[in-house]
Amino acid sequence: MTAYPRPHERPRRLRTTPALRRLVAQTRLHPAELVLPVFVRDGIEEPQPIGSMPGVVQHTPTSLVAAAREAVDAGVGGIMVFGVPRPQDKDAGGSAGLDPDGVLNAGLRALRTELGDDTVIMSDLCLDEFTDHGHCGLVDDAGRVDNDATLEVYAEMAVAQARAGAHVVGPSGMMDGQVQVVREALDAAGHRDVAVLAYTAKYASGCYGPFREAVASTLEGDRSTYQQDPANRTESLRELRLDLEQGADMVMVKPALPYLDILSDVAAEADVPVAAYQVSGEYAMIEAAASQGLLDRDRMVMETLTSIRRAGAQILLTYYATRVARLLGG
Ligand code: PBG
Repeated sequence: MTAYPRPHERPRRLRTTPALRRLVAQTRLHPAELVLPVFVRDGIEEPQPIGSMPGVVQHTPTSLVAAAREAVDAGVGGIMVFGVPRPQDKDAGGSAGLDPDGVLNAGLRALRTELGDDTVIMSDLCLDEFTDHGHCGLVDDAGRVDNDATLEVYAEMAVAQARAGAHVVGPSGMMDGQVQVVREALDAAGHRDVAVLAYTAKYASGCYGPFREAVASTLEGDRSTYQQDPANRTESLRELRLDLEQGADMVMVKPALPYLDILSDVAAEADVPVAAYQVSGEYAMIEAAASQGLLDRDRMVMETLTSIRRAGAQILLTYYATRVARLLGG
């Protein structure tokens, strides 16, 4: 027999036993860094299932508080709240999003009243759930999303959300200058301690499809004049620079799994905590495959989240947050 050379180095040695693998693992998930996105819908008596997101529901104000309590008890670090108004309350200006008694602000108030500072209550700061045309901003006569007119609405919305009890507001509309305007509006209204989680790199992604059902959005057209082109990489660093200059306290990359390169770039540059959002379509892909027995759900959930963490996200938004926290024994 030929005497083949023996390897000098044996990386397999550190993979020998579960205990060894655990000892040398470089990436760990912890419940405290998970954030659960939740939907609260106006005008319903019972929680409503979302067809494209099996296992996720639109909550009533009561079930919202219960779900948040469950998440917090499991160790989840925060809740991100999205509002779903009644169809008849949507208008061109998204006024239901500004209304202190609108579904989102009422939901935030209920959460803050019940949970106090036990968790971090975050609010989506965007118009698409509240506009009848479904865009994230105001639309001008020529049918374009008007950046600067939208900023004024975001400013008002931020203050309404802070008053309702949000610890963190998350401007997600990708309007230029949104972080600065939101920060100044919060400060001027005395909410200096309310933090801004900037959706820094947000791509115009097919992965938001199920979310549109979740918030009953009737988008006309698409978002490619304000969300980023999936083909582009360096502009995320530009968006990061602008968000940091404007006072972002945390920055986010979204979607997560198809954008790990972006996440890694952003994490290398940012001196604030970096979050990533495993969005509705990423959830739906895992659910679709798992329900057909093609993939093991929990394995895929843990592997995708570990990868997102490894790429540089410190905070993970995922519809699996409560499930994962329990799996982790939190
Ligand atoms: C905008 C917003 C969206 C999501 C979060 N915030 C939708 C969009 O930009 O079209 C998507 C989240 C998900 O898909 O889970 N308000």
